[in-house]
Amino acid sequence: MASLQACIAVARAPPLSHSPCLALLARALRPIRCTLRPQVRFLSGDMAMDWSFNWTAQGVSFRRGEMRFRVSLKEEASVDAKDQRVGAKAIPKLMLVSDLDNTMVDHLDKSHTGLLRFNNLWAAEYAHNSLLVFSTGRSLEKYTQLRTQFPLLTPALCIFSVGTEICYGANMEPDQDWVNYLNEGWNQAVVLEEVKRLNLRLQDDSEIRPHKVSCQIDKKDATEIIDTLSKRLKDRGLNVKLIFSHGIDLDVLPKGAGKGEALAFLLQKMRREGSAPQETLVCGDSGNDIELFEVEGVNGVIVGGAMEELRQWYDINGKHSSRLHLAKERCASGIVEAIGELSLGPHLSPFDRMNSNGIQPAVKASEKGQLTPSGVAQREVVEFNTFFTKWMNGEVPNNPESFQRLTSVIASGSTMVYPWGVEQSLLQSVTSAQSKHGLTKDKKIRVWIDCIQEQELANGVLMVTWHSWQMSEGTERKGYFATAILREKEGTPNGVEWLRVHETPRKS
Ligand code: GLC
Ligand code: MG
Repeated sequence: MASLQACIAVARAPPLSHSPCLALLARALRPIRCTLRPQVRFLSGDMAMDWSFNWTAQGVSFRRGEMRFRVSLKEEASVDAKDQRVGAKAIPKLMLVSDLDNTMVDHLDKSHTGLLRFNNLWAAEYAHNSLLVFSTGRSLEKYTQLRTQFPLLTPALCIFSVGTEICYGANMEPDQDWVNYLNEGWNQAVVLEEVKRLNLRLQDDSEIRPHKVSCQIDKKDATEIIDTLSKRLKDRGLNVKLIFSHGIDLDVLPKGAGKGEALAFLLQKMRREGSAPQETLVCGDSGNDIELFEVEGVNGVIVGGAMEELRQWYDINGKHSSRLHLAKERCASGIVEAIGELSLGPHLSPFDRMNSNGIQPAVKASEKGQLTPSGVAQREVVEFNTFFTKWMNGEVPNNPESFQRLTSVIASGSTMVYPWGVEQSLLQSVTSAQSKHGLTKDKKIRVWIDCIQEQELANGVLMVTWHSWQMSEGTERKGYFATAILREKEGTPNGVEWLRVHETPRKS
């Protein structure tokens, strides 16, 4: 066991060279007095190590057969918060940059249908090779509040306060280069003085940021106020940008700031790192999103229900662009619609692909002998969970054939560790759900999967980790950390079967 753990530790610790692997392995095996005869081979992108060893215990010598593991060097699109490198390790297939209020989040949809549908699609088809970016007018404080109310995924990075703050990773490290750039020629105190001199109503303290002063004004006075304020700030030597959104909000920013400028900065940074995305899709609904659509080379979606100021911009500037889509559907459903219309990748989530026989595979499962395509284990995790939830909610037909979608992918002898600390046969756990069809039909459970990651541990053996969230009407959301081991299996919907699952409840 110790040696297996050592192998896994090595497998998870790039950068790799064969010598630390051997050192770790030798250390792990030392207590059982063995001689190790390793052979290391480098394959394209992978490292294989075969070894045999002699093991002497109580004077008896055993010769164990050969063992093998392979370390995958494939790395997925990601963000390195410490180095402030974006997508440093791979080229993202899609970078989706979305506004939040009334774009990703529909404040009128209390059951979050569109958002959950987007989450389902993203976790199944995009999380392994694409980047999710939120670009919002909100400050970090107001964004954090929104996350408690809506089932939002965790993005790779966030652009806050109308493109004035770019923050990376879980700790939301600000991009210092961006801060330095915006500092030039900006003076927040002067802006505040002029805003007060015009008697404008400032927004909440949380929304007044180092590079953003925001107030609320009457729509009818907007043109006049914007003209006067621009002139006065210019006279005081400031180069600013004024953005009017939602027919009420006025943001004063440094000239070089804004959602569009921040995205252009990010893309330039990624280009320098050699990790610019293959495609970018920007998504918005209001005035402060206009700039996003003007960034060179991006695709864009104006979601259904967009504000007048953005629709007007579209009529004048966007109508004839084949890269812009004016969605019929509202918010996150409009984003899913645009992914399909603009041919940016799969647009049917497992939720949408489900029929009475289970879930139609999104792509052909891998052929025997071929390397498992990256992302299939993640897709299996999302599909399985989606089907399981639909079964409990009574949203798929109650018949043994359709239930087989679940049992047919469980390896014999596999186990599950429950959040309450009980280990059970995985097949038994799944089978026991057959009689529970429709159990939650009156209070439907909604599930979403966040932070999903897949890693190949050995040839055809995959580890998937994710955060699973559950909620149902009138109850608090519950979260779990989950880990599963899957392995290649021909003839299953995604070419893999389940070996083990482990769930632990989250504290918050
Ligand atoms: C968000 C921000 C607000 C800003 C508005 C428009 O609502 O909280 O400060 O004025 O977006 O950009
Ligand atoms: Mg919005």
